[in-house]
Amino acid sequence: MTKKEVFESYDQFIFPTYSRLPVVFVKGKGSVLTDIDGKKYLDLFPGWGVSNVGHCHPKVMAAVRDQISKLIHIPNNFFGINQARLARELVRAAFPGKVFFCNSGAEANEAAIKFSRLFGKGERFEIITTLNSFHGRTMGALSATGQGKYQKGFAPLPAGFVAVLFNDIEAIRSAINDRTVAVMIEPVQGEGGINVATPQYMKAVRALCDEKGLLLILDEVQTGFGRTGRMFAFEHYDIEPDVITMAKGLGGGLPIGAMLAADKHAHLLQPGMHGTTFGGSPLVTKAALGAMEAIAKDKMLKNARVMGAYLTEKLNGLKSRTSIIKEVRGLGLMVGVELLIDGKSVFEECFRNGLIINCTQGKVLRIMPALNITRKQIDKALNILEKAILTVEKS
Ligand SMILES: Cc1ncc(COP(=O)(O)O)c(C=O)c1O
Repeated sequence: MTKKEVFESYDQFIFPTYSRLPVVFVKGKGSVLTDIDGKKYLDLFPGWGVSNVGHCHPKVMAAVRDQISKLIHIPNNFFGINQARLARELVRAAFPGKVFFCNSGAEANEAAIKFSRLFGKGERFEIITTLNSFHGRTMGALSATGQGKYQKGFAPLPAGFVAVLFNDIEAIRSAINDRTVAVMIEPVQGEGGINVATPQYMKAVRALCDEKGLLLILDEVQTGFGRTGRMFAFEHYDIEPDVITMAKGLGGGLPIGAMLAADKHAHLLQPGMHGTTFGGSPLVTKAALGAMEAIAKDKMLKNARVMGAYLTEKLNGLKSRTSIIKEVRGLGLMVGVELLIDGKSVFEECFRNGLIINCTQGKVLRIMPALNITRKQIDKALNILEKAILTVEKS
């Protein structure tokens, strides 16, 4: 197919649910993508947080190659070696508990929402979430999402969610009532503009949940798997949640999600209560094992911390050379640059010059490179970004 034919097919046969950039990628390696015309792009937003280990990491490719020739899918009424191994690795990496496998972040959050309903025993069901959060597009996850723009047109949404200010413990305290069963937050709001939960807030949320008998659900779909320089973002806060949800970086590029609930609550989910046909298949769990091995063997957590600090320092330097950057913030390699102007033109200028980043909430450039990004690649990206910012500033 030519590029033109691809575009025409999309026009004719695919719902226009996404605004797409006019490019067709055909190859990816690490932090570099190649399009159908052979043009190379430096990808500092790989897969919207999916490709934490970079595109086509050798360990993920080897795992998939090995598994695909043996067994691709078996349903969950049988046992599987890879699923067993992956659950053990996730529990080791997070906290003692049990895992439910699914296929996406929204589904992982649906599982957590249903789990909290079981915890509430039919008497308590309300979940406190935060404004500007993003938990997914399925009806429950959408109702949990604290942004009206995503909910518009889909009423009535499932009841039982209330969104309060992020990083405001008193807002949570005031929202608690007899029906409240859980608090659900992202340790760093990603889509919401890279808003980092403060240590005091996280500790206070944990304490409040303990005091009131509420489940603390952390949505680590975007922050998980090394994104913030730790395997999970909750590790920065010296707390343990009751439930974490994960997806994106878990599968090294393949679609997989999971919910992990602490042992003391694990009895709540019993046979027949929840399920999904594809969840935790031999293929995707093998890919996830490959991705986790890559993170460990290539020392990616350390690299994420070192490169995250370097990137942030350089971006703060850039802030002093332009008048359009309001703030640089983030955790590890989850970095936001809030502009004083609309970010679309900066983002587009970067793209034209072969750099992929993201712009969220209109004004926040979101930069989330692969965890194995090199200093040289960051320098190259910053060079393009600085030129883009200065060009836009002048115009
Ligand atoms: C924090 C968070 N939760 C949930 C989701 C939904 O994940 P998915 O798109 O895999 O359903 C996302 C997606 O961006 C996310 O960032």
